[in-house]
Formats: sequence, structure tokens, C-alpha cells
Amino acid sequence: MAAPVGDIGLIGLAVMGQNLILNMNDKGFTVVAYNRTTSKVDHFLANEAKGTKVVGAWSIEELCAKLKRPRKIILLVKAGPAVDSFIEQLIPHLEPGDIIIDGGNSHYPDSIRRTKELEAKGFLFVGSGVSGGEEGARHGPSLMPGGSPAAWPAIKEIFQKTAAQVNGEPCCDWVGETGAGHYVKMVHNGIEYGDMQLIAEAYDILKRGLGLHEDEIADIFTTWNKGVLDSFLIEITANILRFKDDDGEPLVTKILDQAGQKGTGKWTAIAALDAGMPVTLIGEAVFARCLSGLKEERIRASKVIAGPQKEAFKGDKKQFIDDLEQALYASKIMSYTQGFMLMRETAKELNWNLNYAGIARMWRGGCIIKSVFLGDITSAYQKNQNLESLLFDDFFNKAAHKAQPGWRRIVAQAVLWGIPTPAFSTALAFFDGYRSEIVPANILQAQRDYFGAHTFKVLLGKENAKLKAGQDIHINWTGRGGSVSASTYSA
Ligand code: 6PG
Repeated sequence: MAAPVGDIGLIGLAVMGQNLILNMNDKGFTVVAYNRTTSKVDHFLANEAKGTKVVGAWSIEELCAKLKRPRKIILLVKAGPAVDSFIEQLIPHLEPGDIIIDGGNSHYPDSIRRTKELEAKGFLFVGSGVSGGEEGARHGPSLMPGGSPAAWPAIKEIFQKTAAQVNGEPCCDWVGETGAGHYVKMVHNGIEYGDMQLIAEAYDILKRGLGLHEDEIADIFTTWNKGVLDSFLIEITANILRFKDDDGEPLVTKILDQAGQKGTGKWTAIAALDAGMPVTLIGEAVFARCLSGLKEERIRASKVIAGPQKEAFKGDKKQFIDDLEQALYASKIMSYTQGFMLMRETAKELNWNLNYAGIARMWRGGCIIKSVFLGDITSAYQKNQNLESLLFDDFFNKAAHKAQPGWRRIVAQAVLWGIPTPAFSTALAFFDGYRSEIVPANILQAQRDYFGAHTFKVLLGKENAKLKAGQDIHINWTGRGGSVSASTYSA
């Protein structure tokens, strides 16, 4: 039998798989391509991969036989049972030290489990976030690998050469142990939901509030794209707004206002609730998609629930648009602040050693949330890798302060207009809550103790004989209840 030639194997010849193969091929690697429906292999070799070094395999056994040791095999198949099924099929043909890489949008607990299961059998596992869609896969995605640390030296060159490059640096680095790669990709997607929702709200304010046409809004986004908001999502939204249907109408105005979702944003929100972290903007972005889904109900409601009388905008339009840019920027700062808070908390809980500057660097290019802004986050974490939150970084602290007046004016105006801005508003509420030494949780604690004897602790400096420092205190608020308190625990 001929000596194995493949540097890496890839299973799953759908759009991401095919493009990633061609990208790796361009970077000088020999890729062995396999698909369960093998006619796809023939088709791929005869068309897209024609004239390349790509090698076909028509069975799992053949795929494994054609790979150099340690074997590296990327799965780009639907997240869920399909991944486990391919892993099972691969195992009999692998040798100790071989590496299985899952490049799908898998849920991180699955990657934690798969790392453990494969390591127990002597193999290595990598769960890697792959972002950037078709374009990214073909010309340079953002790659977020995590899993068995011993796999990294073996795949590093292929991964870093295949990834997008920004200022000569690859948008790929080792993220961390077990499920860390897919965890970070999940947070990336949550942030993607937030960024998209913020842009949608800005569009709504400009359209329904200021009464601007899609072309005018596109011009505003194009201008914003030259400043602090410079990002892929702002850029493509300007292109989307300018895109006309055959009758000359902006196509976007004909799209049903019901957003789909595959679940990664929801996972992020659930992870935030589980970790007890106030990742409110992503949560609102997910709920906004849910509300959009209630189209029929919204149509009925729109007939019977009136909002405020719409008044024409009488202020300074230019100032308003500048305020909106600041509101978007500040809200984005809050969203990333929250996202990084969540990663920090989970890393603590799961004992992951996450490199936050590295994560921001990986997101600077190649992926859907790529932006200039991520360069500033990279710098913030490079200056202080133990940064408690982005708002403690000088650059972002100043930026949030500068944006504050305009941001407040936008949220206030939207409220007066009756235009929903869940993401802008929750960002501002988070900002105001986060900067408050005192929040009204004293009332919640008193209520809990009043109706359920759930106890409270005394505020520092307010201790007395009855209110002892550090103790769980129960007060007989009504004179009727007993002195027995409920046990304290967290659900
Ligand atoms: C990426 C994207 C991608 C995601 C889609 C669809 O990084 O390339 O995040 O992984 O699956 O954008 O997501 P929704 O269907 O949930 O909007």
C-alpha cells in the first residue's frame, strides 16, 4: 500500500467543508475529503476541487489509511448525534495519539464529554469554533480550537495558516482545555446576536423615528463604518440596505420580519443564567428574535394596542445621528463587557485558563463579529490580563463616559416614540446598575425575609446588637411569624 499522503482529513462536504478544504489546499496542505454520501466526493473532485491536490476517500477506512500519523480528522457535520456517530465509526481505524477535530457548532458540554471519552481511549480531541461563513471558510476563518492540549502542536501550523490573518497575526490560537473552544465560539455567537440586534434597532430608529429611506440609512452606516463602529456586520448591513429588488424597492423591506435561530445565542443566554452573570444584552437579543416570531399575534395586537402619537422629529438630525452612533458604540461595549464577564466566570468554574487577549485577537478577523473594536479589546487585555471588566480599562471607561449623554438621549427618544430598543435599553440599564454602589436588592431581601423568612445580611457599617455582621438574620416583621428562618441555598 502506498505511503499515506494526507496532512489532514475532512468529513462533511457541505458548503463549509468544501470551502475549508480548498482554503487548506491553497495553504499547501494535502487534504483527504470524505462524505457519507460518496457521490459528493466524486462531484467535489470533478468540480470545485478539480486541479487541486485534494485526495478523495470513499470510506472511513480509506480516509484513515490515507492520512499521515498522527492522523488529524476534521468533522464538519451537523452538531449533535452525527458527530458522535462519526467518532464511533472512526475509532476502529485510529491509533493512539490520533486527533479528531469537531469544527461544527457543537454545544460545549458535548465537547467536554468527547474530550474525556476520547482521551480515555488514548486519542486526542479538539472542539473548534469555526466562524466566518462560506467566505471565511474559503479565504480565512476565525478558528477557536480547544480540547486536548497535546493536540495543539500537531495541528497548530495547519490551523494558523488556514485562519484569517490580521496585521500578520493569525485569527487562531489555542483557547483552552476540553470544551473551551466551543464555549468561546458559543459566546462569539451570542455576541453576534447582540451586535445584529443593535444594528437592527439603529435601523428601526432611523427608519421609523427619523423617517429615513434605506439608501440614506445605508449612507449613515457606511460613514459609521469608517469610525469606531468599523465592522463586518455594519458593512454588510449597508450593502443589504442598498440592495434593490427588480422593481427598485430595497429588497430588505420585503423580507418577513420573523428571525430564525439555530440555538447558539440561546445557549449563551442559558449559560449566563446558569453562571449567574448579567449577560442582559444577548438575552434581549434572543428574546427579540422570539418576539419577532409572534408575527400573527403582533398583527392582532397592533390593531388594538396604541402607542404614543408619532411626532415628527424637530431636533438637530445630525446631532441625533451622532448620538445614535455613540449609543450603538456604548451598547456594544456593554455587550462585550458582559460576554467577557461570562467567559471569566465559566473559566473559573471549569478551571479553564482562558487567554482573553488571545480570544479578542482571534475575533479581530475572519469571523462574523470581526471589527476594529476587537483590536481595542485585545489591547485592554494585553495591558492587564486579569482585567475585572472592560469598564475598568481606561480606553473603554473613557469611551463609555463620552458616549453616555448621546446614548441616554437616544434611549429616551425611542421610549417617547414607542420604538422598541431592548438591546440599547438593557445596555444602559446594565451600565447604570453596574456603576451603582447601592442597588435596590435590599428591598428584595426584605421582601424575601418578610414572606418566607429567607434571611438577609446587614449592610457594612449598619451593624448593631440585632444586626450582626456576616450573619444570616431573620426579623419578625409583623409580630405574628415565629423566629425560625428558612435554610439558605441557591437553586
Ligand atoms: C459564524 C456564525 C455561524 C452561525 C450562523 C447562524 O460564526 O460563522 O456564527 O456559526 O451558525 O450565523 O446562526 P443563527 O441561525 O443562530 O442566527
